[in-house]
Amino acid sequence: MTKPIIVVTREVFDETIGFLGEHCTVEANQADVPLTTEQIAGRLCSAQALMCSLTDRVDAALIAQCPALKVVANIAVGYNNIDVAACNARGIMVTNTPGVLDDSTADLAWTLMLATARRLTEVEAYIRGGDWTGWRLKQWLGVDVHHATLGVIGMGRIGQAIAKRAAGFDMRVIYHNRTRLDVEVERRLNAEYVSQDELFAQADFVILQMPYSKETHHLIGAAELAKMKPSAILINSTRGGVVDDAALIEALRAGTIRAAGLDVFENEPRLNPGFLSLKNVVLSPHIGSSTESTRRAMAMTAAANAVAALTGATPPNLVNPEFRTAT
Ligand code: DGY
Repeated sequence: MTKPIIVVTREVFDETIGFLGEHCTVEANQADVPLTTEQIAGRLCSAQALMCSLTDRVDAALIAQCPALKVVANIAVGYNNIDVAACNARGIMVTNTPGVLDDSTADLAWTLMLATARRLTEVEAYIRGGDWTGWRLKQWLGVDVHHATLGVIGMGRIGQAIAKRAAGFDMRVIYHNRTRLDVEVERRLNAEYVSQDELFAQADFVILQMPYSKETHHLIGAAELAKMKPSAILINSTRGGVVDDAALIEALRAGTIRAAGLDVFENEPRLNPGFLSLKNVVLSPHIGSSTESTRRAMAMTAAANAVAALTGATPPNLVNPEFRTAT
């Protein structure tokens, strides 16, 4: 029996290719040179499966060129790069990789929070520049994370993992979410539900952890930044586009808020150059989930999703449940 064809758009780990190879004919791009949409369409025209990353746009125009396509397995939890409605219309399953990256992504949000509060990138540049002449009492004063108020907007799995870590820092945790959490979960996380405006008014650290969508586009703009404390620090490690970057740059320049820690940007990787000259921002290149074990787990999860779909099973992480296989 001929094996189904899977196109893998970007480099993955050898064990992922090995696993896929047991079930499929694998057309992999292990050279890791990003493929254009036309190149993906060319490779995908007779394939049954696509394993892609968040940098690949899977839209109606691409899908129209792939008559045999049955499943799109994203190597990410977020799937705003995929037009799910267009996949639904063609009966194509879409899968993502929830769960395996929660802790690593929460760790990175905390890394940005601590680094921003203690001005780590500024002081590192200072010491590397050979400018350190000795200890001074008022040198490089930062702000405390411990006993401060953490405000999490978007209290899904990753938001909860971020909140859980706050206990060790004796922080007060407030949160805002589309739907309020169960009282039991709130109690376990020691988290208090507040309106978004209350969160802006009270939080010392505002962390964003909601998915990107039309509804969350520019959720944080000039008006929202103006509602935050002048001492507030904003952390975005979820998706570019949730924050209006131009408005944030203006707020950081004007001192509307104190600082920001950012892992994601509008138009990645061509971030707004305004960020580069600001001292009160800590920048990282979309590495929230990037630890070796987590990235291996994400690739394997995506591969398992694709293989399940190709072998007639329901993928464990199906985004469009209407295509659940009858059991
Ligand atoms: C995701 O999974 O959505 C992350 O942004 C990838 O690092």
